[in-house]
Amino acid sequence: MKIAVIGSGYVGLVSAACFAEIGHEVISVDNDHAKVNALRNGEVPIHEQFLPELLAKHRGKGLKFSTSVGDATAWADAVFITVGTPQSATGEADLSYVEAVAHEIATAIHGSKLVVEKSTVPVRTCEAIRKVLQLCGAPADLFSVASNPEFLREGSAVLDFLHPDRIVIGVDTEFSRGLMEQIYWPLTSGEYYKRSDALGAGPRFSECAPLIVTSPKSAELIKHASNAFLAMKISFINAVANIAESVGADIDEIRAGIGADSRIGNRFLNAGVGYGGSCFPKDVQAFHAVAQECGYRFGLLNEVIEINAEQRRRFILKVRSAVWTLRGKTLAVLGAAFKGGTDDIRESPAIAIVDELLAQGSSVRLFDPAALPKAKAVLGDSVQYASDAYDAATGTDALLILTEWPEFAQLDLERLRKAMKFPIIVDGRNLYRPSFMAKAGFAYHSIGRPELAAEKSAQGVRRDDWIYVNKSGAASAD
Ligand code: UDX
Repeated sequence: MKIAVIGSGYVGLVSAACFAEIGHEVISVDNDHAKVNALRNGEVPIHEQFLPELLAKHRGKGLKFSTSVGDATAWADAVFITVGTPQSATGEADLSYVEAVAHEIATAIHGSKLVVEKSTVPVRTCEAIRKVLQLCGAPADLFSVASNPEFLREGSAVLDFLHPDRIVIGVDTEFSRGLMEQIYWPLTSGEYYKRSDALGAGPRFSECAPLIVTSPKSAELIKHASNAFLAMKISFINAVANIAESVGADIDEIRAGIGADSRIGNRFLNAGVGYGGSCFPKDVQAFHAVAQECGYRFGLLNEVIEINAEQRRRFILKVRSAVWTLRGKTLAVLGAAFKGGTDDIRESPAIAIVDELLAQGSSVRLFDPAALPKAKAVLGDSVQYASDAYDAATGTDALLILTEWPEFAQLDLERLRKAMKFPIIVDGRNLYRPSFMAKAGFAYHSIGRPELAAEKSAQGVRRDDWIYVNKSGAASAD
């Protein structure tokens, strides 16, 4: 199949590379000439596991790059729209990029064509695209419009594409259903997984990807409802964590207890500083706007948003109570990305928290394994940038963990403690067991779990005494 993918952002580029990987001929299109040239020259604009390998494997063969929507459309059997749908001032998704692309596609529809929306869009966008295509002169009998929402997580987007929990296609003609089934056949039949060079061999190696066929409107709603539900899970566990914290219970135990119910499941129940990223914040807002437009008051989504914002405020208060006052303190911050495994800082809780710490008079020494260049672009010289976690910790009053990078869960604690002025850790991602950290000599504060050593230090022990207690190895949680 010949596939054009319009928009070379996260979703577009990963989809284009993966379509090539499963055997299609692909043209990836972007109107940013510099980006297209860079891609042609072998550069990889985003930090994404396996993407460099796939681009290197297919570039110039099954995967080409272009700036012309018209040429790519005229050549392709199916045209995927993967341009951005940023949040507008009212919370709705801004569809102007989708509309502009639809205009360009329309002028190039001369033979039969399938147009597929893959960008996250409000329900009924398929209908709107169809109208625009017709208004711009595309003959109605020559094209179909389908919806094919993506469920790619940044950091594991390539494997999510190739080993999906499900593929959703929203179609309303036999033509579009047939084409969409053909496009995903290597995954739905399991053929791809039999290849010796298939990516992601492992327990799921011989599976076939499940295909769910729906109407376009249902497919559009599946995307928004999935992301809103996952965001709700995170806000729910964060709210429970706050209650656990006040009564002295442990959110890890609670998570294990509720997650064992197969109707609930334990994924996406990690308490922390809240969700961020380019999808959840925007999609929950956009879904709320969709409900409003339908005349339905979906107040639950407002609560999801509010609990998420509250997590950041509570974290600042937690830091403040751990170091007594924020003004004049130097704090090590581990993590700038909105989650581990990516360099993306969009809507990152870490950046918002750093901003607030600076506003309250602290100095920050920041480290992130991948996101420092992007962090520098927004934070400038308001913070110091460290070369690793230990460099960040050097001479600091406390260390804060804000991104769940696996390497932050494997720090050399002795080295870290020696580097710091005071051994205080405020962990916004619950990467360590409190009892373990207390034994390692840290006053360790986390989310929704008992504060073992910190309780001792915070209640009436002067800081000097407290450090002495830890240095003597007497501070123990158990
Ligand atoms: C999300 C969806 O998972 C994906 O299906 C969709 O298509 C795009 O949006 P992504 O934004 O890449 O993917 O990140 P995800 O892994 O879902 O994490 C989102 C945020 O939630 C991160 O800030 C993460 O740290 C946070 N999170 C996640 C938690 O706080 N707790 C959890 O248990 C899980």
